[in-house]
Formats: sequence, structure tokens, C-alpha cells
Amino acid sequence: MNAPQLQTHKRRNGKAPLVMLTAYDEPSARLADAASVDLLLVGDSVANVVLGHADTLHVSVEVMAHHVAAVAAARPSAMIVADMPWLSYHGTTADAVANAGVLIRAGAQAVKIEGGRNRLAVVHALVDAEIPVIGHLGLTPQSVLALGGFRVQAKTVDAAERLLEDALALEAAGISALVLEAVPANVGAAVTAALTIATIGIGAGADTDGQVLVFHDILGLTATAPAKFVRQYADVGRIITSAISSYAADVRNGSFPGASETYAPTSDPAH
Ligand code: KIV
Repeated sequence: MNAPQLQTHKRRNGKAPLVMLTAYDEPSARLADAASVDLLLVGDSVANVVLGHADTLHVSVEVMAHHVAAVAAARPSAMIVADMPWLSYHGTTADAVANAGVLIRAGAQAVKIEGGRNRLAVVHALVDAEIPVIGHLGLTPQSVLALGGFRVQAKTVDAAERLLEDALALEAAGISALVLEAVPANVGAAVTAALTIATIGIGAGADTDGQVLVFHDILGLTATAPAKFVRQYADVGRIITSAISSYAADVRNGSFPGASETYAPTSDPAH
């Protein structure tokens, strides 16, 4: 998968739905790539999912680059997309290009930014610098303070029309694909029908050109109950706790380490 392919990847043209999953480090990237996902998103959700913050506002370009490099170290076949963190593209377009360059040099093949018509200058500058851009509309978590919380978006006809206008403007500005988060299914379907580039939904219904979910959500690794749109495929958290409990018990009852986990003694331990 690469940026030009994303730009024409439509289910209505007979393409299979795109599979995107977040990854934040080498093991998560390696495991997801072994499962043949199309795109790995180094999401700024690393802030709340991995680093324990309440929202995504607490990660810098340097932190994102650190995680992008860890994901790239897995040398995945999947395309690596990096979130540009809050405030890294809200100033001058020159700063935005420089910040995106840090993420590309860390190993990303595209960057994702949140926002609509208010981000067109940034999209133009990034595209002009040959950096593929993925847009993100609907619930944009970096706007949590302005939105007053994490809420389903585009619930009124007016709001849905504004979102569609934003999507068309971003496409005209040159984005390669568009993430749609937490919008009614008919809005996901209408935006997907209106665009020629791929849409990738998260809580946007079944009609988008692909789906994205968070690694820790689908594996049962989060502390809180996942959102309505998440399907949890395994309870890996329970497996991990059970395995660590067994390790702790073995240490405490003296059965670990055993002979097979111990180096043979030297013939003369004194030397
Ligand atoms: O940061 C992230 O994980 C995201 C997805 C929710 C799309 O942006």
C-alpha cells in the first residue's frame, strides 16, 4: 500500500476494504504486520492508550518520532502512517512541514492531521513538500477541549453537510485518504460516495473503504471499557495477568528457576 494506491482505493471499484490498526512499538507492529494489515497507524492515541494520559494532547513530535521509529524497526510490509500531534501543524506551514519531516525521517510514509477547511494551507504545504497526507474528520480527539468531550459528530443535517464540504475541500487539496471517526453510518456512507479517495472509518459504519481500530482495544488491553464501535477479538490482558501470576507463584514457591533454566556450574566455582 502506498499513497497513490490509497487515493484510488474504493470499494465501489471492487477493492477489498482497507485494514488499518494502530501500532506504537516494534512488537505491536511486527504482530499486526504478520496478520497482513494494510496500514499501521502510529496514532497520537499512544498518549492515552500507552502513556496513561487522559487525552491525546500530551504528546510532542519527539515522542511521536520515538514511537514511529520503534514501529519502523519492525520493517513492516504495511504502510506506516504517523499522527502529527496537537500543535505541530497549528502554527506556520513551514513549522508543519519541518515537523512532518521529523516523522517521515523516523520511518513514516504519510502523516495524518485532524481538521477540515481550517487545515487547507497545511495540506497544501505538506503535499507541496511531497509528504502524503491523510485527513481526519468527525470526532477529532485533539479538539476534545473545544468540543467539550468525546462525542459522536455530524448528528444534524447541517453538521453532516459541513463535514461533507470539509471532506471535499481536503480531497481537492490533495489528501491521500480520509479517516472518519464517530459519525452516523449514513454520514460515513455519504462521504465515501462523494469522494474519489479512500475513506477509513472508526465508528463510521460499514460503508467506508476501510476500517481502523486501536491495537489495545481489539486485544482487551485497555483499563476502561472500549467505545461502542470497538469489537474486542481477544482478552490478551487476562492471559498476560494469568501468565505473570504463574511466574510470580513459581518464584515464590522456589520452582523457578529450574535446572533447565540454570547454567551448569563451572568445574571449579572458585575460579
Ligand atoms: O490516534 C489514533 O489512534 C487515531 C485513530 C483513532 C484513528 O487517530
